[in-house]
Amino acid sequence: MQIVRELDPLRNAVAALKADGALALVPTMGALHEGHLTLVREARRLAAHVAVSIFVNPRQFGPREDLAKYPRQLERDCELLEAEGVSLVWAPGVEAMYPAGYATNVSVSGVSEGLCGEARPGHFDGVATVVCKLFNQVRPDMALFGEKDWQQLAVIRRMARDLDLVLPHAGAIRGVPTVREADGLALSSRNAYLSPTDRAAAVALPTGMKAAIAAIRAGTPIAQATARLKAELVEAGFASVDYAEVRDAASLAPVEALDADPARLFVAARIGGTRLIDNMPV
Ligand code: PAF
Repeated sequence: MQIVRELDPLRNAVAALKADGALALVPTMGALHEGHLTLVREARRLAAHVAVSIFVNPRQFGPREDLAKYPRQLERDCELLEAEGVSLVWAPGVEAMYPAGYATNVSVSGVSEGLCGEARPGHFDGVATVVCKLFNQVRPDMALFGEKDWQQLAVIRRMARDLDLVLPHAGAIRGVPTVREADGLALSSRNAYLSPTDRAAAVALPTGMKAAIAAIRAGTPIAQATARLKAELVEAGFASVDYAEVRDAASLAPVEALDADPARLFVAARIGGTRLIDNMPV
C-alpha cells in the first residue's frame, strides 16, 4: 500500500493503478471506523484497486465547529487500510490541497439548502469543493460514500452531474447503507466524543426515529410525529435538536404527507457538545 502526500507522486501512483484495472475512491476525513471499512470492502468488491483519501477538510468546518479537536490518527488508519487490501492512501496536507492563493469555491444550490445546509452554513460548499478536487486529483472510476450523510451524497451527485466530472457512468457515485452499533446508533467518528452517559442516552436517536416512522406509517401527521420526536430527544438528554424533518429522498424537498415517492426522516441533534445526525426511510 502506497501512502502519498503530494500531487505529483499521486498522479504517478494513480496512473500505475489504473493501468491495472478499475480504481475506486473512498473519500474520508480519517478516524476510520467500521462504517468506513464497510465502504472500503464494498469498493474492493467492485474495483481492482481502492484508493482512500484522508484529509480533514478545514473548508467544511464552521468557525465554531470542532476542526481543531477532530480526531487525527493517520498511522492507525493506514494500518487498518493496509489490512483491508487498499492500494493507495492519498493524505495531502492542507498546503497541498489549498496552496497559498487558493480562491475557488464549488457551491451547489437546491439539495444543499435546509437540514445541515441551514444548521452549518458553508458546510456543503466545503464538501463540494474538496470532493470536486479529490475527483479531479484521483480520477476514479467510481467513488463510494456512506448514506448516513444522505444530504452530502445528494450534493456530491448534483455537483458531479452539473460540472460534467469525468466519471464513467451514472452509478459511479455509490451510496452505501449506514453501519450501526448493536443498539442502533449510527457509526460516526464523532461518537468518540460522547461520555458514557451521553453514549447511553444517544440510543434515543435511532429508537425515537423508528418510533416516529412507525407512527407516520400508521397515519400520524408528519408534523405531529416530528414534534413528538424532538420533545422525546430533549427528554432523553439531548441538549437541542437542529432539525427533525421528512424530505423527499431524491430532491430533498420537504414532505408534509406521504405519497408514492420515497421519503426519509432526517434528524440532527446535539448531546454533550456533540452533534449527531441520522436518516432513515419512512
Ligand atoms: O464524509 C466525509 O468524511 C467528508 O465530508 C468527505 C466526503 C470526505 C469530504 O471531506
